[in-house]
Parts: sequence; C-alpha cells; structure tokens
Amino acid sequence: MNRQSGWAQEAWQKTVTKVARTSKRIGDGFPHASVQGEYKLEPAYWWTAGFWPGLLWLLYRETKDEQLKLLAESCEQQLDQVIADYYRLDHDIGFMWTLTSVARYKLLGAEDSKRRGLLAANLLAARFNVQGNFIRAWNPWHEGEDNAGWAIIDCMMNLPLLHWASGTTGDPRYKQIAVRHADMVLEHFIRPDGSVNHIVIFDPHTGEQLEVNGGQGFAPESAWSRGTAWAIYGMALSHHHTGDERYLQAAKRAAHFFLANLPEDSVPHWDFRLPEGITAYRDSSAGACAACGLLLLADQVSEQESALYRQAGERILHSLYVNYGAWDSETEEGLILHGTSHYPEGKNIDVPLIYGDYYFVEGLSRLLGHGELFW
Ligand code: GLY
Repeated sequence: MNRQSGWAQEAWQKTVTKVARTSKRIGDGFPHASVQGEYKLEPAYWWTAGFWPGLLWLLYRETKDEQLKLLAESCEQQLDQVIADYYRLDHDIGFMWTLTSVARYKLLGAEDSKRRGLLAANLLAARFNVQGNFIRAWNPWHEGEDNAGWAIIDCMMNLPLLHWASGTTGDPRYKQIAVRHADMVLEHFIRPDGSVNHIVIFDPHTGEQLEVNGGQGFAPESAWSRGTAWAIYGMALSHHHTGDERYLQAAKRAAHFFLANLPEDSVPHWDFRLPEGITAYRDSSAGACAACGLLLLADQVSEQESALYRQAGERILHSLYVNYGAWDSETEEGLILHGTSHYPEGKNIDVPLIYGDYYFVEGLSRLLGHGELFW
C-alpha cells in the first residue's frame, strides 16, 4: 500500500457496496451501457460480455462473496452457447474469455474453465491472416460485406488469451501469433507521435496495407482516445508476456501522447483531435483503461521513471473516483459516469460503460495490491 491508497480503499468499499446492490438487478446478464440509470443488457455474443463477470471476479477475490461468484460462473456458462456459434464470434473472444474462463481458472484452478479458455484461444488463433500477420477483427456485419482484411487496435487486448494458452499448454503457436500481430501493430498502427490508427485495412490475399479507417474515432487521422488506451495497455501487456523492449517503447510512446493531451481533470475527451464544432464529450472508459496500462508500465520501467507512470495512473483513477463516480446515486447503476462508446454512430454517448467500470475496479485492485492480472 502506498501513501495515496486511503482514497483507493474508500473507493473500493463504495464499489463493493454498490455492486452488492446493482448485482441484484443485473444478475447474470451482460450489461454494456447504462442509459437513464439502468444498464441495458446485451446478448451473450456481444463483445462486452466479459466485463461484468470480470468485475465480479475482482470483487470476489477479496470479499469471497459466494453470490458474486455464482453470477460470474453463470455468465461463463452462458458463453458456452456462443462458442459454438461460428457467425457471431469475432476477435473479441479475448476480452470475453479472459475475464470469465481465464479469470476463474487463475482464481480457482477450475478444469472446465481451462478447457473453455483453450477452446476460445483456438478460435482466436484461427482468425490469423498469415500473409498480413494480423488477426482479423470482425465477420461481415451485413450480407455481402467483405471485411476479411480489417484489423483494429482493440485487438491488442485480446492477445493475452493467446499468451495464456501457450503458457498453459506449452504449445508456442498461440504466442507466435500474438507476437506477429503485435509486431504488425508496431508497423501499421502506432504513429510516430504516439497516437494510433483505429482500423487498418489490408488486402487479405497479399497482406498489403490498403487504407486507414477512422472507425470509432472522428476521422482516419484523428486520435480516438480509447484506441490509444487499448494501445498503452495492450503494448504493456505484450511486453509483460514477452519481455520485448519494442513493445515497452511503444506503450511509453502511446502513454506520453495520451498524458500530454489530457484535459485539466485528467479524464480524456473521446477523441484527442477534434475540429471546432464537434462536442468533446469525455470518455471515462478510455481513462480507466489507460490508467491500468500506466500502472503496469510503472512496474516495467526503471525506478526513476516508474513514479511518472504510477502517479499518472493514480491521478486518472482518483479523478474518476471524485469527479465521475456515481457512488451514492440510487438511480444510477453505473459506477463511472461519462463514457462514450461510439460517437460516429451516435451510440451510447456520455453514459456509464461496463468496460469503464471494469477497468476502474481493476485499477483500484492494482493500487491496493490485490493479486495477479487476469490478462
Ligand atoms: N472494442 C470496441 C470499443 O472499444 O468500443
């Protein structure tokens, strides 16, 4: 525990109290965005399905509240229907099974969770394009769409499932794919200034880069803040799993861009490069995810550098706690207000998002020294 952990302890207690209440309504559902105070529940195949059970596991690890464990286990069991659904699954298999099966395996050593996690890792590995060295992001969203050559920065957070699978089985294939994808990201996604592309489109036959697409950012050349957060944490995790210095340098570059562009209260706008006239909503989820990456970075750099990243991570989490937390509201299920899911599509803007809640709790858990990463 460090000198600032007093507030983190207080925030943790408030989280435990609030989730004890909200879990009675959310149960073993799959929340994504809280609209007018209530989390909308999504089908089990939606990419966010792992965050609520992951959050429950973070709390269970400390509280040993059996009810939270049962809910998380029920979420994981529901994912069994999805794993056999070829059409629904995309690269976010990593988010989904890391925070359910891998988390339960790490906490309880459960054999059935290990089997599920390995099956999911196989499906993720099967999305690898050997010519372009990228993991394909999505399947066609509509009849006739060809997105076989699309890769997205978010996938950096899916790679830990592959590292876990190699570590667990001793089979290096999964890790080899994770490394080749991360190397591709270094070349095609991370820009010299530390900002990142959201989507890069390749020719799926030749592997040649065709174009950059703005995706959830404002424009191809803008700087979507959650994308930057995925890059900070994802690259730090790739360094954590491989020891490769290039990933550490990339994580630092993205981190410096992120920190240099934060507003006064340390919580990012949804895009760091917005033209006049476009509302600069906050994306608290980007702040929470980046904070987790910064805290990991703090453990990976020299002692002289460490304080910079640790203090920045704490500063963001502290601001989320005091300025964005919905702790005492009886009419709001979300923990952290003001997330922006998808501005270009006008979806879930300025609302609590389950991944913002998840990464906030993960960040607290790290500040408080609770235990190993699920990633
Ligand atoms: N992975 C999708 C998102 O960040 O909204």
